[in-house]
This record gives sequence, C-alpha cells and structure tokens, in this order.
Amino acid sequence: MGELEAEKHAEYILFIEKKKDEFEALVIEHLRLNGAYWGLTTLDLLHKIGAVDQEEVVSWVMKCQDKDSGGFGGNIGHDPHLLYTLSAVQVLALLNRFDVLDIEKVSNYVARLQNEDGSFSGDMWGEVDNRFSYCAICCLSLLGCLNMINVEKAVNFIASCKNLDGGFGSIPGGESHAGQIFCCVGALAITGCLHHVDKDLLGWWLCERQCKDGGLSGRPEKLSDVCYSWWVLSSLIMIDRVHWIDKQKLTRFILNCQDKENGGISDRPDHAVDVFHTYFGVAGLSLMEYPVVKSIDPAYALPVDVVNRIFFGK
Ligand code: FPP
Ligand code: ZN
Repeated sequence: MGELEAEKHAEYILFIEKKKDEFEALVIEHLRLNGAYWGLTTLDLLHKIGAVDQEEVVSWVMKCQDKDSGGFGGNIGHDPHLLYTLSAVQVLALLNRFDVLDIEKVSNYVARLQNEDGSFSGDMWGEVDNRFSYCAICCLSLLGCLNMINVEKAVNFIASCKNLDGGFGSIPGGESHAGQIFCCVGALAITGCLHHVDKDLLGWWLCERQCKDGGLSGRPEKLSDVCYSWWVLSSLIMIDRVHWIDKQKLTRFILNCQDKENGGISDRPDHAVDVFHTYFGVAGLSLMEYPVVKSIDPAYALPVDVVNRIFFGK
C-alpha cells in the first residue's frame, strides 16, 4: 500500500494542465472548467497551488463567461451551465479572486434558473436534477447571495426527492444514488436544513456502500470506485455518522489506486489514472484526516481555510 505520493500527484496535475493539445485534453475539452476545479483543489490540498500561474488561470476562467447571461461555459465560447458556473466560482474562491467577478450578474444567472416548484434547471434547455440545486445553492452561498432565490422552495423540492431508504434521487421518485445524496445533503447543510434528513436511516444506507475491498460504491450491487470516497464520506460527515465505516480499509483502498511511478489516482486498483479520481482520492483522504493533506469542507468541497476566509474573513 505505502504512503500517499503527494509530490507525484501534484506533478501529474501540473503536467496535464500543460499538455492542452493532446488527445486526452481534447476529449475532456468540454469539461475543462470542471477539470480546472478538480486539479487546482487537489494542488491546494497538497499545498502546491503556488506552482500554477494564477493570473493565467483567472484570465482563462473569465474568458469562459458568457457575457450576455453571466453564466460560465466549460471552455471559451461554450454555452453557459450551472455545473461550470459553480466550478468558476470555486476556482476564483481558491485563488481569492472574487474581485474579478460581477457578483450580481453571476447570481442573477443562477437565480433565473430556479423553477416554480423550487427545483433548478442546469441551463436554458431546462433539464432538472438535484445536482443543479446543489450547484445553485453552493454558488450563491459562496457569493453571499442566497437571498436571491426562494430557499424555502428549493429546500422543499430537495426534501421531496427523499426515498423510503433514507437516500435521495435526482428528481422525485428517482433511485437513491450516492452522488445525488451528496448534492442533497450538501445543499441542506449549506441552508441549515439537515432536519429533513433521517440521519440513522441514511447513515445505514451510506455505510452499507463499503465493499469487501474497503472501497465505497455509489449504489447497491455496484463495484467500489475512488470517487465514492468523496460522495459517500462527505455525506456521512455532514450527518455525523462517519464512524460507521472502516476508515483504515478505505484509506488502503485509495492508496492502492495510486500510480506510484507517474502520479495520479484511478477509480480502481490497476486502472488508468485521471484528474477526476485523483481529486476525489485526495479529497477522500483529506476527509479522513490523512497527514499533511489540508482539510476539505464536506459541503462546499473547498479547503476549510478557503471557506473560513470567505465566511469569516480569516
Ligand atoms: C455520480 O456521477 C455523481 C453525481 C451524480 C453527483 C454530481 C455532483 C455534482 C456535479 C455537483 C458538484 C460537485 C462538487 C464536488 C463540487 P456518475 O455519473 O459518475 O455516476 P455513476 O458512477 O453512477 O456513473
Ligand atoms: Zn468514479
């Protein structure tokens, strides 16, 4: 198993950030703003954010903004969407650069996507999903603008997606899924509405996701995958039930997914590494207080020191 190869993972992230023209970069081009958030948060958790050219990142992020709507796209010239708008706000939060944002314009874009029933569409095309409720609430909370939406209706919509097993789905009646549970529990935590969660019932559902290999899965009968170290563990922490899983076994599972030679973390042992799973592996270890890694906030998915600076000016 060995230890976390922190240096190598930081080098891996810095390396892929530079090889923009290669095939892998092309494939994930439409996800670049999400990729920037995963990569930069990983670097910050590993105390290496100083290694990137921050001015270059900020100017590229601002070029991804759609000047008409105020929302952000996944890359320059792409259509705006809540998923990328949250990533843009998170990246600027990491770099302490809200000064470049027209906060009212961005918040208006987010607020306009709320529907009559309190749910959120991801963009002008209208798909509704609790992922977008989370993006909207997290984004507006970071910007200090939650008052621009109807929080009560937003919370009631999320509560209406709760299932008999204690979990949450993407829309009312949707199957419980750990990714959706993170979004719902995160949004309820941010708005101070965790009383809608049946903590013992949901805690059981979540801790039953730990597989024999120590890893966590997203749904019953699915294989373990490093990204669920984040979706499941962050939810367990927010409902005070993290002691219901075996942390040591999960730590071992994540460390076994490292590429110890070239850096990066994969979804499962011996698979190819990617930025997404590198981020979730490091973030999962952070939630388990692994030495040296900075602490991450389970609701905002940003380092705790960044969240404290935003809310308490520290
Ligand atoms: C599983 O995806 C994950 C989800 C459904 C949650 C996604 C949440 C967001 C995009 C909100 C922003 C997140 C953060 C951390 C700031 P999947 O499609 O991989 O699921 P599968 O494993 O079932 O295929
Ligand atoms: Zn995964």
